[in-house]
Amino acid sequence: MSAKGLSIINLEKVYPNKYTGDVHAVDDISMEIQPGEFVTLLGPSGCGKTTTLRMIAGFERPTGGDIRLGGESICHLTPDRRDTAMVFQTYALFPNLNVYDNIAYGLKIKKLSRQEIREKVMGILAMTGLEGLESRHTNELSGGQQQRVALARALVMEPGVLLFDEPLSNLDAKLRVQMRTEIRKIQRAVGITAVYVTHDQAEAMSMSDRIVILKDGKIAQMGSPKEVYYHPTSEFSANFIGTANTLRGTVKSQEGNALTASVLGRELAGIPCERSFQPGSECTLIIRPEACSVQEDGLFEAKVTLSTFMGSYQLYELDIDGNRFTVHENNPKTRRIYEPGETAWLDLDIADVHVI
Ligand SMILES: Nc1ncnc2c1ncn2[C@@H]1O[C@H](COP(=O)(O)OP(=O)(O)OP(=O)(O)O)[C@@H](O)[C@H]1O
Ligand SMILES: [Mg+2]
Repeated sequence: MSAKGLSIINLEKVYPNKYTGDVHAVDDISMEIQPGEFVTLLGPSGCGKTTTLRMIAGFERPTGGDIRLGGESICHLTPDRRDTAMVFQTYALFPNLNVYDNIAYGLKIKKLSRQEIREKVMGILAMTGLEGLESRHTNELSGGQQQRVALARALVMEPGVLLFDEPLSNLDAKLRVQMRTEIRKIQRAVGITAVYVTHDQAEAMSMSDRIVILKDGKIAQMGSPKEVYYHPTSEFSANFIGTANTLRGTVKSQEGNALTASVLGRELAGIPCERSFQPGSECTLIIRPEACSVQEDGLFEAKVTLSTFMGSYQLYELDIDGNRFTVHENNPKTRRIYEPGETAWLDLDIADVHVI
């Protein structure tokens, strides 16, 4: 299998609409995807994920920009002439064919020999855990098995890039988590380039080399899961990836990468900071729920408004001077639990605060 790099260059898709005004579904998106890389397009409904994917696959024609696969522009090619394969949310299997023939379908069209087809299909069946099911009809399979067939059918074509549009959203929660790991394992083993669309941030975090957060057809942020989680560049990114607490502050001073800011009447020094701020300017502190704790004493006095046992953590909601704050206190078994109505203190390590 020869994984290819994918270049998306100033890609644009405008749907004309004379009643509501033109819809800029994809608005000047550029990214370089390396051969073998797993990139996820993540964003809320309507942000342009599917449109981008459909343009890569050739189901939709861009109104601007270019798409290059392995260095060659593919925009003029019909979907069947592109070195791409897509796994759909709805599986889109052929209901009148059995598992084997579903997977073999594309290879038959490519006119491979019966022997070659057999070898490839059997190899993929083993890889996707479908051995023994080859003569079953697709309506005799569970949702998870159907999704495996869809994956096998795409993989067997050995495309330069594999495209996924929310492939797990029809599965129940447990299976979804299991399939994430499996898809990622297979993708790594085969070394195939993958573009994966989801609006589930946990899915994006757990599977991707890189996440592209889209908002209104534009790239809001792009980076590794750790980068986007620990260094969100906007409140939108911070809230889209995980839960984020935000506190407004006023910058007092900055020394290199350490910021001093006044926040809710307290002066906080040594806030890690990557860009430069002018004294007096507004800033927003982003604090993850697991990066703080509820204590006898701490930084900000808080009223506990919610306290829920979640097993691996105690979920708190605090009111700090009218600001709602979420805290995940890990391993609550060993801790004093605060109840709603109690006064407590929010404590945090300044090193875990991110400022934008
Ligand atoms: N064929 C079309 N004609 C007109 N507008 C369209 C068409 N397809 C998509 N759009 C619009 O383009 C925008 C992006 O749609 P797209 O399907 O790419 O979103 P998405 O990010 O995949 O959302 P979801 O998470 O709901 O699947 C939306 O505003 C949508 O209404
Ligand atoms: Mg979509």
